[in-house]
Amino acid sequence: MYSKITGLGYYVPDNVVTNHDLTQLMETSDEWIRERTGIGERRFFTYGKETNASMATAASRQAIERAGLQPSDIEMIVYATITPDYFFPGSGFLMQRELDLIGIPVIDIREQCSGFVYALSIADQYIKSGAYKTILVVGAEIQSTWTDKSTKGRNVAVIFGDGAGAAVVQATPDPTHRVLSTHLHADGRFAEDLYIKEPGSSRPTRAATHEMIDEGGFDVVMNGNAVFKHAVVRFAEAINEALQANGCQSSDISLLVPHQANIRISEFVRQQMGLREDQVYNNIHKFGNTTAASIPIALCEAWEEGRVKEGDLVCLAAFGSGFTWASALIRW
Ligand code: UT7
Repeated sequence: MYSKITGLGYYVPDNVVTNHDLTQLMETSDEWIRERTGIGERRFFTYGKETNASMATAASRQAIERAGLQPSDIEMIVYATITPDYFFPGSGFLMQRELDLIGIPVIDIREQCSGFVYALSIADQYIKSGAYKTILVVGAEIQSTWTDKSTKGRNVAVIFGDGAGAAVVQATPDPTHRVLSTHLHADGRFAEDLYIKEPGSSRPTRAATHEMIDEGGFDVVMNGNAVFKHAVVRFAEAINEALQANGCQSSDISLLVPHQANIRISEFVRQQMGLREDQVYNNIHKFGNTTAASIPIALCEAWEEGRVKEGDLVCLAAFGSGFTWASALIRW
């Protein structure tokens, strides 16, 4: 058996936050944000209206319907997020409850910006092993409550947005139209180049104290330049690895859907790979960087726009905190 994506869905909050809106909160400008990141606006969730799990549930319902299935057909959930509703258990359990799928296994993973590709790879292994036939793969994030929207946190705060994307992955005997391969990597030497320290357990005090908040332990720490430099190298490596594993060349790619980290990273990778603009899908201008949600949202949008068609060779590629990087090559 092989695995195949049979349904895609996404949900973004309708609360649009423009770069101009951010200039009311911090010293920044529309020009700086657009030039350095390509972002024009992003979505922030509304408290009381959305949660991480509720956005994922909406995205999943859409994906399940488009696969022509009922929620009760789902046999397993693999849910990637670094911004769960609770510290534990993960939001996958809340979504499972919402979809009334009591009893099926839920695998909650983090893996940061590479979360969706890691989750897809996990689903692919379970399907290839014959253990399950229908798996729901999710990436969902609420980043807006984690960022410091004062001038102090501006390098991070302008980048991130909220949203969720989902894919139904099903078993298929078809050796052609399927997930061809997935490739996962990590390098923990750079863990502190993009991280949130607290609430950490290896502390002399309780895992969360007022001092930790005052010292910025709950703030996102990002060495933007280091992330950028590693990302452009690792993205290309991961894409080339996927192409080589399947005897393909970059000119064979119908559509590359990269994690939406920064338009300059996407553009750099596009040029390195010798791809035309129409071979790369970007929507960072509308949604910012939604971490694990960015690839499934972009893939779903591309599919809705008719840019992912039967027979197309689609490449997913990600890089993020950890550091992690990953790719997937799919014959649609
Ligand atoms: O999914 C992975 C998530 N993370 C990433 O992908 C991050 C990758 N890195 C990046 O995208 C870029 O490094 C950033 C967009 C974060 C920053 O762009 P940069 O071109 O590397 O700028 P920089 O950090 O070198 O900062 C340049 C200047 C600094 O001022 P000085 O020291 O030159 O006076 C910053 O203080 O820009 C300043 N700056 C800002 N100015 C206006 C930093 N953030 C802002 C801001 N608005 N939001």
